[in-house]
Amino acid sequence: MVVKAPVFEANKSSTAVQVGRFGWKSQHSSLMSSCADSLRNELGMRNRLYPDEYPTHVASDSPTPFDTPDAKTHKTELERLIDEIRHTSPPARDASLAASLDAQAGKRLFTQIGCAVCHVSTYKTVPPGTRINGGTYKVPKFLGNAIIHPYSDFLLHDVGTGDGIPQAAKPEYLDQSTANKFHTAPLWGLRFRQGLMHDGDSPGTEAAVKRHGGEATTVRRQYEQLTPTEKQQLQQFLSSL
Ligand code: HEC
Repeated sequence: MVVKAPVFEANKSSTAVQVGRFGWKSQHSSLMSSCADSLRNELGMRNRLYPDEYPTHVASDSPTPFDTPDAKTHKTELERLIDEIRHTSPPARDASLAASLDAQAGKRLFTQIGCAVCHVSTYKTVPPGTRINGGTYKVPKFLGNAIIHPYSDFLLHDVGTGDGIPQAAKPEYLDQSTANKFHTAPLWGLRFRQGLMHDGDSPGTEAAVKRHGGEATTVRRQYEQLTPTEKQQLQQFLSSL
């Protein structure tokens, strides 16, 4: 499912929307909107895109902190945060494991049985100079024309793990049909994570794969048909990500 999410920084018209790619429910369509939400709702700092005081705030208390530009750098916390994220490289593959024959065979199986339908391996980013996010961000040289391998389509799917909680960038964008869907977990850096799936309930990749139902049922059945050797090869591939 494609979620159309607002681009708050392009708020000349409140209707600026893009395909949502950030957040468990793909409820945000730009890095800035997504970080602004986290800054207010996870770290407790109101900011330009999320200026509202909490409904539960007691009027006699001092107001919740507001993200204002730093006197020296003239940058807000939000701007520094997204600068930092944009300069962070994606996790690199484990090169020696990736080169092994087993991992290479596992990579082919991953595509053959249909995992790659949702866990899309490769994208090329837009050319440098392209304006995105309602024209507010010009893609710089270091991020443009790059080949990346996130292993996700960043879209929402019901794979039978739904938590029944719809999420939206702001209440007016709430879409109940997101309630039992999640965005496809990107698999880059998988080997560094423990406690998989949105609830952290799957101790390893095999357990995570076995939980795939719903839209992924056919693919999971294909996985169950693999021989023990093939399952091992697929595992090697996943461990190299
Ligand atoms: C229909 C789309 C779809 C298909 C097909 C699919 N997945 Fe997933 N996958 C998802 C979604 C959505 C999640 C996140 C679910 C959640 O968090 O509850 C996920 C999560 C995962 C995770 C957990 C990652 C993490 O960081 O928590 C692994 C591992 C994984 N998938 C591997 C696979 C493998 C291997 C296959 C093929 C056998 C596969 N998936 C097929 C959509 C899909």
